[in-house]
Amino acid sequence: METKRAVTMEKLVNLCKTRGIIFPGSDIYDGMGNTWDYGPVGVEIKNNIKKAWWKKFVQESENSYGVDAAILMNSRVWEASGHTASFSDPKMDCKECKARQRADNLIENYSKGEVNPDAMSQEEMQEYINEHQIKCPICGKFNWTPIRNFNLMFETSRGVTEGNQNKIYLRPETAQGEFVNFLNVQRSTRAKIPFGIAQIGKAFRNEITPGNFIFRTIEFEQMEHQWFCKEGTDVEYYEEYKKCAWDFLLSLGFKEENLRYKDHDKLAHYAKCACDIQYNFPMGWSELNGIHNRTDYDLSRHQEYSGKNMNYVDSGNGEKFIPYVVEYSIGADRLMLAVLSEAYDEEQLEGGDTRIVMHFHPAISAYKVCVLPLQKKEMGEKAKALYKTLCKHFPCTYDEAGSIGKRYRRQDEIGTPFCVTVDFDTLQDDTVTLRDRDTMEQIRMPISELASYVENKIKY
Ligand code: GAP
Repeated sequence: METKRAVTMEKLVNLCKTRGIIFPGSDIYDGMGNTWDYGPVGVEIKNNIKKAWWKKFVQESENSYGVDAAILMNSRVWEASGHTASFSDPKMDCKECKARQRADNLIENYSKGEVNPDAMSQEEMQEYINEHQIKCPICGKFNWTPIRNFNLMFETSRGVTEGNQNKIYLRPETAQGEFVNFLNVQRSTRAKIPFGIAQIGKAFRNEITPGNFIFRTIEFEQMEHQWFCKEGTDVEYYEEYKKCAWDFLLSLGFKEENLRYKDHDKLAHYAKCACDIQYNFPMGWSELNGIHNRTDYDLSRHQEYSGKNMNYVDSGNGEKFIPYVVEYSIGADRLMLAVLSEAYDEEQLEGGDTRIVMHFHPAISAYKVCVLPLQKKEMGEKAKALYKTLCKHFPCTYDEAGSIGKRYRRQDEIGTPFCVTVDFDTLQDDTVTLRDRDTMEQIRMPISELASYVENKIKY
């Protein structure tokens, strides 16, 4: 039986705005659809998520290497990858109000998730929409153009002189930066197959979305890892990466009951097999990350389009071959939404109050400690000095405004794992009270032991 969770999207959006986690993009201009800005707390949390991912998939991976490739790539890259020809969504324009909608979203919403448009051809989608007379969600009329495919890549142009402009694209995935650097990385590191190339970076897609906060945005960050292996070993590695991706989520504190695997019904043009890990988001089960067996598609296509030999040469037996690739791809922002959803809780306190608390893994929390002087006047100086010392060890924050209870609540809401209170006794014996976010228990401890105690607790 599923237990009812306190989290809703509305609560998250409000909390994120008031606590400096995420703000609507271009807020003072009434926003810009599907863009969001990370605030002082949010940027730290997202950076910690990216650091945790990098640690697991680069630092702790025996044979994986990082890159940071350019967002703007030669347009031929996107011809080779297949994005120019087929990276598109089926869309329809409402002839009455001119709103553009995704045909698959219309079907999914109309059928309340009962019908899976991913398993339908374009003709089947058109038939379904006509048969059920699915109306425009904006104006309520049924007067659509036929379904047409719209490419999701954002175009821009290169060149400063008029008439000398070349069309280029903002990358729609980071993966191609890893493929085009396959030989550069392999030769410079002398890596032997199997090995991995990882990257974290921005990607851009001209998507229409129903507005589920940062779930699907037009500008987002991907964390992608390509595992280059020999044909025949790809199936085994595909299974291994499914497990690694799952274990990574558990290591961040996700409950297994909120995760599930889902095989793709319709495979992307490059994939032999593919699956998602879905998360039970506040709006329902949806894709959190993907694991794809991309075969030798990408490297073969780059060989064909660039004219450069993409063969790997086995230094042992001299064998030459184009490696297969198992890809693990997850959006940093989408993972951020999942982390926020998983952490959110409302707890009833004695006395009838409710506290909102974000139970982040301590490694993910923006600040590890908040230093609080019981009274600003008497203990402010001592508390500030302690704050400055602790900041050298890990990110800390300082709060001297309002009652101690209110200050604890503010830290609970941004998920700070520890609060340290400097009180009258501190001035006498150099001990402080350390309060645990999750249990709310308090212990007394000498200042000299504080940094190493916290360092132990925040390890990832
Ligand atoms: N290189 C493979 C690839 O890009 P994808 O399934 O299109 O595959 C991988 O994207 C992951 O990137 C998704 O599982 C999701 O976490 C994230 N993602 C994709 N589109 C996104 C968007 N518009 N906004 C936020 N995250 C997105």
